[in-house]
Amino acid sequence: MTDSNSTSRPNKRLLYRRDLLRFGAGAIAGAGAVALGRSPQNSSQAETQLADSRSFDVEGDRSLGARAAAKGILYGAAVRRSNLFEDTAFAARFVQECGMLVPERAMKWQALRPSLDKFDFEGADQLVDFATQHDLKLRGHTLVWHHSLPDWFAEQVTRQNAEQVLVNHIQTVAGHYAGKMQSWDVVNEAIQPKEEKPDGFRNSPWLQLLGQDYVELAFRVAAEADPDAMLLYNDYSLDYDTAEDETKRNAVLRLLERLKSREVPVHALGLQAHLDGQDSRQFNPAQMQRFLREVADLGLKIFVTELDVEDQRLPANIEQRDRIVAAAYEDYLTAVLAEPAVIAVLTWGLSDRYSWLSDYKPRDDGMPVRPLPLDADLQPKLAWNAIARVFDQAAQR
Ligand code: XIL
Repeated sequence: MTDSNSTSRPNKRLLYRRDLLRFGAGAIAGAGAVALGRSPQNSSQAETQLADSRSFDVEGDRSLGARAAAKGILYGAAVRRSNLFEDTAFAARFVQECGMLVPERAMKWQALRPSLDKFDFEGADQLVDFATQHDLKLRGHTLVWHHSLPDWFAEQVTRQNAEQVLVNHIQTVAGHYAGKMQSWDVVNEAIQPKEEKPDGFRNSPWLQLLGQDYVELAFRVAAEADPDAMLLYNDYSLDYDTAEDETKRNAVLRLLERLKSREVPVHALGLQAHLDGQDSRQFNPAQMQRFLREVADLGLKIFVTELDVEDQRLPANIEQRDRIVAAAYEDYLTAVLAEPAVIAVLTWGLSDRYSWLSDYKPRDDGMPVRPLPLDADLQPKLAWNAIARVFDQAAQR
């Protein structure tokens, strides 16, 4: 990490001490209520009480990227080209806080493929150039997915040409950026047990066109096109102590075991980690750590690839929401970073100013969502403190 990552922001300790005073009484009352066995009216109140009792104190003013790098962990965020090039204040904060950049949209099929026989790298190249200029590592997202496919895909990709289309895409895209990418999400979200296909596979166009072997093919072609990049399998809903997430964890583990048994060049698992502040009580650290250890025992590293904490169903009160969100970040990352194989954490966005959840999971009350480390004014929130604290306390990689 370069010096540019040291920041001259107000001392966050002082900033959040004031918060503490404001919440002190609430926390004591909350803890008292729980201690006396008076169960809170609803889970949000319980979350708030649990979150309120925390200090979220942080030492110093180093950036998240610098704190992570000090432990051998990569921290970065997803970003849209427009936000980076049309908002200079945001771009400056991004460079200040992050050690890695992943394009939120620019490397998906929809952005790269104007037609079956054309590639358009202009947008993605601008992000790669920006990252290179600012000494940021790069992640590619994503070579094979069932979403963000261009309109021509359904009409022009058939069982007859699908393998050639897939191989050509990966060879061309991974080849174009060969040597520049720290890692690629090669295959994204191939598992969806709810769709009841064999081995829990998602009934995606790729499965319909090529069968399960599209996953192995994608990794082998990507490894040949860019031997320097770490190659990830990336997925979501792997986080909570629920029947659905447990089923999905098992199916993903089985997939990774099969790939490794065939010596497929898969190097890491990507946990998207799109968390929900309302579900915090369903997070089971020991269960998560058992799963991560099983993944690591396959010889794989682990990335947290798309971390954010949605607050769609949380109370309107901003202080309460921020505390529950911060506690979710702290609990998840504390548990996950206890696994030495976890080497990178990326949030899916850096500031509430630009979060996909504004459109994807808006609040019924119309209030702006607050899922990310920085607020819409690019100031650190308690979530920032929570992530900083976990990096500071993490073991050296
Ligand atoms: C989302 C982007 O954030 C949106 O801007 C876009 O419109 C749709 O895709 N899991 C993924 C990401 O792997 O690629 C998705 O990103 C969010 C869910």
